[in-house]
Amino acid sequence: MIRIPFFSRNIGVDLGTSNILIYLDKRGIVINEPSIVAFNTKTGKLLAVGEEAKKMLGRTPAHIQVIRPLVNGVISDFEMSQEILRHFLRKLAKQGSFMSYGKAIVGVPSNLTEVERKSVEDAVMGAGVFQPYVIDEPLAAAIGARLPIDEAIASMIVDIGGGTTEIAIISMAGTVTSKSLKVAGDKLTDDILRFVREEFKLAVGEATAEEIKLAIGSAIPLDQKLEMNIRGRDMVSGLPKEIVIRDTQVRAAIAKSLRSIVEAIREVLEIAPPELAGDILKRGINICGGGSLLRGIDQLISKELSVATMVIEDPLTCVARGTGVVIENLTHYENLLDNPLRPKEIKL
Ligand SMILES: Nc1ncnc2c1ncn2[C@@H]1O[C@H](COP(=O)(O)OP(=O)(O)OP(=O)(O)O)[C@@H](O)[C@H]1O
Ligand SMILES: [Mg+2]
Repeated sequence: MIRIPFFSRNIGVDLGTSNILIYLDKRGIVINEPSIVAFNTKTGKLLAVGEEAKKMLGRTPAHIQVIRPLVNGVISDFEMSQEILRHFLRKLAKQGSFMSYGKAIVGVPSNLTEVERKSVEDAVMGAGVFQPYVIDEPLAAAIGARLPIDEAIASMIVDIGGGTTEIAIISMAGTVTSKSLKVAGDKLTDDILRFVREEFKLAVGEATAEEIKLAIGSAIPLDQKLEMNIRGRDMVSGLPKEIVIRDTQVRAAIAKSLRSIVEAIREVLEIAPPELAGDILKRGINICGGGSLLRGIDQLISKELSVATMVIEDPLTCVARGTGVVIENLTHYENLLDNPLRPKEIKL
């Protein structure tokens, strides 16, 4: 039996490749930071977490490493993932003057292996939560978007995150069909980084490539022409150099990755049972995740697949909001959780 301390609080967690969000019961989203840590490789000491660590990306001396402990939505560095969680949970507990965490609902990609799921649960427990439950991210996103997931009507969710694009068709509170693709926001950033290297012979860091994507990136031609000055190191002379990059160039750089996202959505639509495909045609595709903020990506999907596509309101937080709805209404949603009846033996 698990004995959860009486005064403990419950949380919802979206432990994403790019961002970690924590929802605290009765409060809402209280943490929204990059899933990045900086540590000293000589001493192993943690130097910075989240926003503070992100600022150090590409700017550190050799003995300081800045890493993302999650890759494609999966924990790749267990210790550091746990450290991020522990850091934010301690900070929250200190601010709110409470002592412990009872239950946590944690969003995970839908196709994780049992071992990968277990690793998420262990990291959350190791960070100080008594009982973690995992939920498929598309389901959490649908709940966060207040889609009618309990009904016998299909909802289609496409979550374009940092590391993965999760595509799922949900009906009657379950995932009917899903697909996970390792092409998402970070791949687009990488495409831009490579393009700048090849086209302009200019070496730029990940932060600059992401800046370009956010400032002038688009999935379809824009009414207004956009351009941006960027600085980096000339790969021929080795000296700093400035160039101008245009929206048309960025669009060409990311076109192939966008096409693979659209094709993956098409595949899921093609294998959907006919009744559900009919529902989706009527109700459209809901897109979320940071990647859904790329200019015109909804129009591109809609044009290519001839299905209306809408960006969910506040698309970066819908998974976290969904985990929040579940944690606040645990009895109603218990059947949605992956491990509802798997109590863990915990020695207090
Ligand atoms: N305005 C924007 N335009 C284009 N891309 C954006 C925008 N804002 C954020 N992004 C991209 O969204 C991605 C992060 O999205 P999100 O926070 O949903 O990912 P995540 O949940 O951490 O990752 P995952 O779900 O894959 O584990 C990053 O690649 C970021 O560059
Ligand atoms: Mg995500």
